[in-house]
Amino acid sequence: MAHTVYCPTKLIFSDDAGLDLERELATLDPGPVMVITDAGILPTGILDRLMPALSAGGRPVEVFSDVPGNPGVTTVAAGLAAAQTIRPSALVALGGGSAIDVAKAVSVLLPHPGIGGVSGLRWEDLQAGRAKLSGARAPLIAMPTTAGTGSEVSHVAVIGAGDGFKRGVVHASLFPSAAIVDARLALSLPPKLTGATGMDALVHAIEAFLGRRANPSMDLLAVGAMRAIAGSLPGAVADGADLAARREMAQAAAWAGMAMDQAGLGLCHALCGPLSAHHEVHHGLGNAVLLPAVLAFNAPAVSPGRWAALRDALGLPVDAGPDALAGWAGAFIGGLGLPTRLRDMGLDGATFPAIAAEATRMAMIGNNVRAAGEAECLAVLEAAL
Ligand SMILES: [Fe+2]
Repeated sequence: MAHTVYCPTKLIFSDDAGLDLERELATLDPGPVMVITDAGILPTGILDRLMPALSAGGRPVEVFSDVPGNPGVTTVAAGLAAAQTIRPSALVALGGGSAIDVAKAVSVLLPHPGIGGVSGLRWEDLQAGRAKLSGARAPLIAMPTTAGTGSEVSHVAVIGAGDGFKRGVVHASLFPSAAIVDARLALSLPPKLTGATGMDALVHAIEAFLGRRANPSMDLLAVGAMRAIAGSLPGAVADGADLAARREMAQAAAWAGMAMDQAGLGLCHALCGPLSAHHEVHHGLGNAVLLPAVLAFNAPAVSPGRWAALRDALGLPVDAGPDALAGWAGAFIGGLGLPTRLRDMGLDGATFPAIAAEATRMAMIGNNVRAAGEAECLAVLEAAL
């Protein structure tokens, strides 16, 4: 089938993030480097260890660490204001998807100086479709410290809008210039976050593989990611110092990120967006807890050819059918120590009608392998309760 693969990010699978960071920065103009990260990274010591690479050659280093778990447009505005003061020649995003997405936003807003040095472009205007990106951007090096979001290889930035709902902006200039994927950066990630972010990557791979825009090139990445995650996520959760498992997960998250970026997502992410907006649920955790019910809904639409590859990648028995998917997912997620029901997270279903209605307006629902309207979304949420 005809399809285009476009991933211009220089993707470096690294065994020494500091060395590769120094090499990448050396190719860029001299001048300050601005690190965008979250406060949780500071006590891990990761930033301290990278500081010699960041400051090599006497380059000034400024750190913006005010990225919260679910960043909104105010965080982007604050990061942009800091960047306009620093005028960095490069941005380095260090963290999970939140830090990387904020850095992406700053990188494309920065080259649009308006009156008085204030950016002539606002992120909320891009989210609302009132403005368009020109393609100009500041160089951005993404360094993921979780193995999950795939933001390091995607051309979307998902930021909370003024109404609290996350909205994605998609543009080729949002591909990071480079991504340095080093599993050692995730060694200090606690088990719950390792499990939740890893499940996000697994859902990316499954939704890309089953989706309507699936294509042979992304199938390779999605199947490889599913196999690696099914095999290594339990080990990475059980023993965070297991570097082999961490490395498998770091690679798989990038593969799954490319697959979801180029082949699309599905019902699980369509439901998770409004779920997170209503209940402040972690993105990976929300996807994990929704996955069994989504797979049960999708099972009748999984073709025999797709099923054989999916079954083998996830390690299900050869005689299992697609209706076994939901049970497998529930057991896998429970084995990671994560909640498997929405009620385990304190939900009672009161917001389900609103979440179902909002999910139907999410773009990715159109890529789901089985058509889902408001009634189907509501039924899946109730099944997940
Ligand atoms: Fe995701």
